[in-house]
Amino acid sequence: MDHFPYRDRDLYCEGIPAFELAERFGTPLYVYSTAALVGRLEELHTAFAELNPLVCYSVKANSNLGLLKLMAGHGSGFDVVSGGELHRVLRAGGDPGRTVFAGVGKTDDEIRDALRLGVMLFNVESEAELEAIDAVAKAEGVKAPIALRVNPDVDPKTHRYISTGKKESKFGMDIDRALRAAESVRGREGLAMTGLHMHIGSQITSTEPYARAAAKAAELIDRLRGMGHDLRWCNMGGGFGIDYRGGESKPIASFAEVMVPRLKPTGCRLAMEPGRSIAGNAGILLSRVIFTKQSGDKRFVIQDAAMNDLIRPALYEGFHRIWPARVPEGVPSWPDDFEAAIPGTEPRDVVGPVCESGDFLARDRHLPPLHRGDLLATFSAGAYGMVMASNYNTRPRAAEVLVDGENARLVRRRETIDDLIGPELVGLEG
Ligand code: LLP
Repeated sequence: MDHFPYRDRDLYCEGIPAFELAERFGTPLYVYSTAALVGRLEELHTAFAELNPLVCYSVKANSNLGLLKLMAGHGSGFDVVSGGELHRVLRAGGDPGRTVFAGVGKTDDEIRDALRLGVMLFNVESEAELEAIDAVAKAEGVKAPIALRVNPDVDPKTHRYISTGKKESKFGMDIDRALRAAESVRGREGLAMTGLHMHIGSQITSTEPYARAAAKAAELIDRLRGMGHDLRWCNMGGGFGIDYRGGESKPIASFAEVMVPRLKPTGCRLAMEPGRSIAGNAGILLSRVIFTKQSGDKRFVIQDAAMNDLIRPALYEGFHRIWPARVPEGVPSWPDDFEAAIPGTEPRDVVGPVCESGDFLARDRHLPPLHRGDLLATFSAGAYGMVMASNYNTRPRAAEVLVDGENARLVRRRETIDDLIGPELVGLEG
């Protein structure tokens, strides 16, 4: 969280104190750092430079138009999984010719749209999808550029909900099926196989699964070329893990170290689809304490961000560091270990106002004494935070702010109750 330092016990995002942002824009508030986003993108470009990489930022991680515009402006391509995400890319000034389109359930309308816009590659997940893309492309009088999504059957050793590269996954095809599918592509007028795609999972903190996947990709590229396919792209997906607790992730360069030598001999350009590794630690969620409460031996901090704002703890038991935005005297400004008993703290559950026992951001977390109105920061919230937010309990979604040095720009206003109930008024006419 390099761009979220504590100075004199106050949390900053780049050059702006968090409490100023909270006062100006209200809470709950997502705050993103431009320097962190651009820095990570550049780190990826540098680490994989030998493979002439195209970073296709994975829009699903954080699809705010302000972020997408920033990414596009710094040379990023995009990875989209729906017609909706593709239109976000267009709105943000992104280039469809540098955009890959993935997803197991593309509709004919989405395929047609993507073809007309000229996407760079369709990541194809099944034989049925090959047929559908072929048919739509023929009707449009074009050849669709495709990459088969292959499951290399490596275990990425991550949470089972976000592991995708194993044989028994709804995504992609195993190697034998992919080879058979590749045979069938040769006879199809509407398809040109110009790439290979793999994505083995998300929040992967070990380099070993990437080494194995890259080796399998290189071998497969040879075989596909042997069938006459003109493969130019090797898309290795996303998945690089980040620090949620601190110290568990690896630098991007160490993933490059195992992948580059295995992929270089193929002569393919590398495409990749990182989401979390770009946006995850470029964002925090600010919230204010509403009440504190004790039930039996348990102490609760009830604050204004809830599971509808950040669902990762409830859904994946995701761990996010949480710390006051203004740290009281006698307590470390940034503890080395957020799971330890930190001096001056006591364990509390950090919960939201939603009516579910699963509505928590943290459990038994050591925190300093907190009071009504205190500001809390939940870290590593830039990816899979706001994009997974809902309106459960008719809660308007949070505002989002993009900070650049001393400037803060509102990139999504806070929703109003009218935003939420507007579409329903349709049924109440007359
Ligand atoms: N490419 C494909 C085909 C994917 O399925 C994903 C993520 C990515 C790229 C981007 O992966 P990343 O670099 O962000 O790890 N909501 C979950 C994560 C779901 C990931 C889904 N696919 C979470 O909050 O942990």
